[in-house]
Amino acid sequence: MTEPALIEIKGVTHAYQTATGPLPVLDNLNVSVPEGTFTAVVGPSGCGKSTLTKLIAGLLRPDRGEVWLHGERVKSPRKTVGMAFQNPVLLEWRTILDNVILPLEIVAPRMPKKDRIKRAEELLALVGLEGFEDKRPSELSGGMRQRASLCRSLVHKPDVLILDEPFGALDAFTREDLWQTMHELRRQEPFTSLLITHDLRESVYLADEVIVLSGRPATTQFVLDVDLPGERALDVLYQPKAVDYLATLRHQIQIAQGRATQEEAAQ
Ligand SMILES: Nc1ncnc2c1ncn2[C@@H]1O[C@H](COP(=O)(O)OP(=O)(O)OP(=O)(O)O)[C@@H](O)[C@H]1O
Ligand SMILES: [Mg+2]
Repeated sequence: MTEPALIEIKGVTHAYQTATGPLPVLDNLNVSVPEGTFTAVVGPSGCGKSTLTKLIAGLLRPDRGEVWLHGERVKSPRKTVGMAFQNPVLLEWRTILDNVILPLEIVAPRMPKKDRIKRAEELLALVGLEGFEDKRPSELSGGMRQRASLCRSLVHKPDVLILDEPFGALDAFTREDLWQTMHELRRQEPFTSLLITHDLRESVYLADEVIVLSGRPATTQFVLDVDLPGERALDVLYQPKAVDYLATLRHQIQIAQGRATQEEAAQ
């Protein structure tokens, strides 16, 4: 028998109850993320991507279907999921080091303080924040804050790292720097990741597989297998294969938005 994938979304259907009645958001969604891989999810705004991340983290229960993580059915919030969002919510009254240590205080309260500090310092050095450990969040740039937030999401070695548009608020150059940092982090600390993004270049540069969701209620519309070298420099995006991938994804997004048909996309 083959090993089950680290994240298994099986036939998940979900609607929010609103004042004007149920709002169907996900419709019989199936997603499978094998251990050690990086999957990106793209889709029209409001189609249900953030809802998907909440289901995986156990913050929401689906109306129908099942969410499995590491062979266990997800029924409540999971500590083994690391999350990072568009706005890094760092605590201003804590230093950068103490912000990064925070998850360890919750997940590994018995871990000796010096070990917690060592782990956080190593991660901060890895993302280029050596020397900023004692600063407060407001003393850092947006890109630096997002780097610190990534360290905080990874400090307790979660089974899976869920990234919901973590680079969306950054300028283009800072964003590209952060993409490279993500590759570096993966080299040093292999983890399984699910990235939600609106940026197709980001999805191709970072992921092994890109899933395109349809418009709401979302289901899997298209899956792109990204056959590029694991070690990627930014100029990989100019290779003909990557350019083809981007064109394919662009068409699929237009279909998801109802602006094109599959037949037009195939031309
Ligand atoms: N708690 C909630 N109660 C009611 N409706 C909600 C709730 N959360 C989200 N929605 C609605 O569900 C739909 C999907 O929301 P979700 O945040 O998952 O979309 P998204 O794909 O992440 O969008 P975006 O790309 O803009 O971030 C939206 O129409 C949103 O208004
Ligand atoms: Mg969202």
